[in-house]
Amino acid sequence: MILSGKAKLAGVMGWPVSHSRSPRLHGFWLNRYQIDGAYVPLAVPPEKIREALRALSCLGFKGCNVTIPHKEAAFEAVDRLTGRAKKIGAVNTVMVDENGGLTGDNTDGYGFIENLKAGAAGWRTEKPAAVLGAGGAARGVLVALQDAGVKNIRLTNRTKQRAEALAADLGGIEVVDWSERSDCLEDVGLLVNTTSLGMSGQAPLDMTLSGLNAEAVVTDIVYSPLKTDLLLKAEQRGNTVVDGLGMLLHQARPGFAAWFGVEPEVDDALRSFVLEDL
Ligand code: ATR
Repeated sequence: MILSGKAKLAGVMGWPVSHSRSPRLHGFWLNRYQIDGAYVPLAVPPEKIREALRALSCLGFKGCNVTIPHKEAAFEAVDRLTGRAKKIGAVNTVMVDENGGLTGDNTDGYGFIENLKAGAAGWRTEKPAAVLGAGGAARGVLVALQDAGVKNIRLTNRTKQRAEALAADLGGIEVVDWSERSDCLEDVGLLVNTTSLGMSGQAPLDMTLSGLNAEAVVTDIVYSPLKTDLLLKAEQRGNTVVDGLGMLLHQARPGFAAWFGVEPEVDDALRSFVLEDL
């Protein structure tokens, strides 16, 4: 580790923040590229998030990531928003400019798409996509799919009103009943789980894949376990599967590049390093 008096500083604000993988991930890149810099965990309670973000420039920070539960508060607190942050309605990456102003970006959808491109070269945006879930994570995924050119999106969620609200807000999305989630897969090019189902300690995702065509790509934003039941089932049927860890790794790239001035690479060495501590 190089850490001089001129070190560039960044970090992640969360509450709690101890579970965050980001310090390990950015620390790996700082070491790999021999950068004079540090990326630190910043435990910030909800009532202090605005103050903490404002303090970044006083402390000489280049910026930070924000994670649960601060993404919406950061959206309100910054001075400027990128187009994708505006569409997603939440901020996960903050950049401090030369005058101390704060720009809020959201790289979750970017990370999702980059991970898909890296893991499923055969994925075709012309085909319909089926998305499970209508929470904050789903919104990032839907915006990214639309920006990538997917015109036909089917959205299904246990609480239908949430899916309907999201579809009305983003436009061009068809809502499917949760009870019919296994019956809308015949012609899809992509199936995405954005719910917490299948995560360690949560209920499994009850889904039948018999209607899914052989070319469809299946991905899960859950990465603990790395191979969720959904991905295992899809893999057994011969579908291409993409696990959720890559999304975490790829969403970190734009922030690292902005703060530390190097475009970082996601590769197997990084994956293994982050996986060791999952
Ligand atoms: P996030 O920001 O990570 O998306 P969230 O907003 O709490 O978190 O959303 C969680 C998603 O998982 C929602 O789509 C939720 O469905 P509801 O909108 O019906 O709550 C879904 N989810 C969580 N537990 C579920 C369960 N037991 N069955 C079906 N869906 C579930």
